[in-house]
Amino acid sequence: MGLIFLGIESSCDDTAAAVVCENRAILASVVAGQTALHDDFGGVVPEIAARAHAERLDLCVEQALAQAGMRLADLDGVAVTAGPGLIGGVLSGVMLAKGLAAGSGLPLVGVNHLAGHALTPRLTDGIPFPYLMLLVSGGHCQFLRVDGPADFTRLGGTIDDAPGEAFDKVAKLLGLPQPGGPAVEAAARTGDPRRFALPRPLLDRPGCDLSFSGLKTAVLRQRDALVAAQGGLHEQDRADLCAGFQAAVAEVLAEKTRRALALSPVPVLAVAGGVAANASLRAALQAVATQAGADFLAPPLRLCTDNAAMIAWAGIEAYRTGQRDGMDLAARPRWPLDRDAAPMLGAGKRGAKA
Ligand code: KG4
Ligand code: ZN
Repeated sequence: MGLIFLGIESSCDDTAAAVVCENRAILASVVAGQTALHDDFGGVVPEIAARAHAERLDLCVEQALAQAGMRLADLDGVAVTAGPGLIGGVLSGVMLAKGLAAGSGLPLVGVNHLAGHALTPRLTDGIPFPYLMLLVSGGHCQFLRVDGPADFTRLGGTIDDAPGEAFDKVAKLLGLPQPGGPAVEAAARTGDPRRFALPRPLLDRPGCDLSFSGLKTAVLRQRDALVAAQGGLHEQDRADLCAGFQAAVAEVLAEKTRRALALSPVPVLAVAGGVAANASLRAALQAVATQAGADFLAPPLRLCTDNAAMIAWAGIEAYRTGQRDGMDLAARPRWPLDRDAAPMLGAGKRGAKA
């Protein structure tokens, strides 16, 4: 079976533990969401998230081990998200992982959460390097050329909001439930994407950078104009705004992906992050990949959104390249994945803000 790793993830609002084998078998994957805890606040409250992680992490690990039918002694290592993310949550995970490693004598491997997402296609489909990863989630949006387990080149990314964040904010301003992505996608099904003229931010500029905050503001303006003119929003207004917003996001992401593939041709375009669940975005990306002569790969949704299987897998990949962390492994709120910065960042020499 090869190496077997426990993975621990607690960087945002999902508490997760998983047991993954080097042969790509996921022996267990437990994800405990916190949506209900944050519902009343319209977003993730870091302090509430941190406490919930601290309360649940050990139970998630116990459950994952039970599901896999294993004890710590049966494992070969413990991998944990050491950043980037909400620092209280990351700390909870790192402290637990250190405790487990110290108590069991297992090696400890600190994993970059983004590397977890970026390496997921190797876990799900065993694809070779290189490939292009479009990471689109509630907190992240970037194009990464992946050439090795620790060899990432960022070709571009958002200069403001992440697309998932924009979906969430649009849902909020239209009175739809959180998380906003699925709600906006559902509303968009009966909407006319051409009714409202919404911007296509940064399409006029070269390169692969993206921006979503102006698009969200444009939706807000249209909403306010409708409310002022007719005293409120009709169901159809909501549907049309959602459809228009979603079409703009898909169009901009597709065009920037086309540029990224032109800039750095690779055989496979892969996507990860919660927004990868969006069907119209998937269709647009599939078309771009086909045009560029690349395969399109979208891992199953449960492995696209935050989970610990991807952390265990990234831990195995890092361990195979010789990475071992000690009890001084730092939890880091920021931790870019760029190839140039990777060696120093891996050693934690740049401090928390790097
Ligand atoms: O990757 P993820 O679970 O968490 C992180 O942000 O790391 O992504 C969650 C994000 C949320 O913003 C959610 O609204 C968005 O993914 N999302 C979607 C869809 N499903 C989830 N966005 C658009 N369409 C969807 N179907
Ligand atoms: Zn994530």
